Amino acid sequence: MGTGKSPLCYLSLSLFSALLLILLATLASGTGLQTPNFHGLSFREITVQQIQVGFKRNQFTSRGLVEFYLKEISRINPVLKGVLEVNPDARSQADKADHERYTKAPISLSPLHGVPILIKDNIATKDKMNTTAGSYALLGSVVPRDAGVVTKLRKAGAIILGKASLSEWSHFRSNNAPSGWSGRGGQGKNPYTGDDPCGSSSGSAISVAANMVAVSIGTETDGSILCPSNNNLVVGFKPTVGLTSRAGVIPISPRQDSVGPICRTVSDAVYVLDIIAGIDYNDKVTIKTSRYIPKGGYAQFLKADGLRGKRLGIVRNPFYLGIGNDTTAIVEKHINTLRKRGAVLLDNLEIPDLAAYDISGSAETIALLAEFRISLNEYLKELVASPVRSLADAIAFNKKNPKLEKLEYGQEFFINAEATKGIRKAEKEALSFMERLNREGFEKLMIKNKLDALVTPTNSVSRILAIGGFPGVIVPAGFRSDGHPFGLVFGGLKGSEPKLIEIAYGFEQATKIRKPPKL
Ligand SMILES: *[C@@H]1O[C@H](CO)[C@@H](O)[C@H](O)[C@H]1NC(C)=O
Ligand SMILES: *[C@@H]1O[C@H](CO)[C@@H](O)[C@H](O)[C@H]1NC(C)=O
Repeated sequence: MGTGKSPLCYLSLSLFSALLLILLATLASGTGLQTPNFHGLSFREITVQQIQVGFKRNQFTSRGLVEFYLKEISRINPVLKGVLEVNPDARSQADKADHERYTKAPISLSPLHGVPILIKDNIATKDKMNTTAGSYALLGSVVPRDAGVVTKLRKAGAIILGKASLSEWSHFRSNNAPSGWSGRGGQGKNPYTGDDPCGSSSGSAISVAANMVAVSIGTETDGSILCPSNNNLVVGFKPTVGLTSRAGVIPISPRQDSVGPICRTVSDAVYVLDIIAGIDYNDKVTIKTSRYIPKGGYAQFLKADGLRGKRLGIVRNPFYLGIGNDTTAIVEKHINTLRKRGAVLLDNLEIPDLAAYDISGSAETIALLAEFRISLNEYLKELVASPVRSLADAIAFNKKNPKLEKLEYGQEFFINAEATKGIRKAEKEALSFMERLNREGFEKLMIKNKLDALVTPTNSVSRILAIGGFPGVIVPAGFRSDGHPFGLVFGGLKGSEPKLIEIAYGFEQATKIRKPPKL
């Protein structure tokens, strides 16, 4: 709204009424009267960049976007169950964002300003919403403050649209509970196949895949971003552990937990990463890890020719075995594409210590059980109010509410974790076993061959990345013959996010596999 002299008297009447119409349309859109259409199309598959262009050109508003997503949630979420709670303040947050844009407030220049985002329900929001990891045991608990990543998202003007469903307790209550199931959320469904969405960030992946939100946040301890992204044909970005704050996140293990974006495109994921990465004094690890963050952030690495000169490793055994002939054919085509786009493929590499990796799951479990008890008890103690104050309380809650919490699924992880007594001999041995494996396995493979990334189909590489705190990005790669989607993972050394982004973006732009589900 320019100041200066407004020479209204020089305007013809028709021009004046045209201006009045524009003003009315602007007001109407500010109050949500605008039909939530983007050039007569819906907002399906809209990207963060397209949203910002649309905002700038006054083609639609944040309020319009929020109305569209709320309508989609009420239409399809009863079946897909990707959203656990909708934020009662989402509309007013959108109106505030629209006002900020009209008044040219500096915050409106942020790439996520006015963009609706869904937060996995194990990430604290200090607002009208609950933070429960999907369990009735935490319903009504009061968090002391927003999680570190939520603080950063709010400061960037993102609209917290709601909480995403998940595998209850990030799938660390029982191995027998189905993926994507939680007491509060019920069974989440894969929008492509109607079956396994995979977890534990199931709702985040389901919701972006089915266009119930623009972007989302998940968490990963071992596979919980990569696997649901694989199953739901979306991009999942698991950052180096500690690049994003875990403060205010219902934990499994501070050694392995990582918060990251789940989105429809690599660039959307990178815009979200740019906001959530960085120092949070409530998670001290972020201070040291922030040295990995490049000056100018991550979006500068969204280069169409990002594959040029990159050294990509292929370890056929075990990652390319048993994925089926049809899937193999698609993967081989992709490897060719990577090569054609200028990447150097180092094929038939062997991962040192494969046999040790085969048995590393038990060492990981030993460590996670003890770390879970310690860190969960700390989280619960810090709550302002809560029905449960310890892991022991949560176990008792499930026993007291066997129907509500489907005790038939069991809670053996809970019980085994409660039996641990801190980091003692067995845990120390498990930890040093994994440290040696990280060093002499994955790191050695990467350094010896000067690799920028290891390329693996599906999320089968997740444990190798998990136990080392290494980053990985998964990008849609296609459909198996039975209709199940799958992705390609690019995994790298700690802090290698800039290269992973160049590679993932280069692959995505060369292939453009992602398409929305038919609902
Ligand atoms: C949070 O949980 C309470 C029940 O304790 C419920 O009444 C409320 O609606 C929930 N909040 C939202 C936003 O769904
Ligand atoms: C897969 O391919 C291999 C080698 O080309 C072949 O021997 C095998 O029969 C194929 N399997 C199926 C199920 O088609």
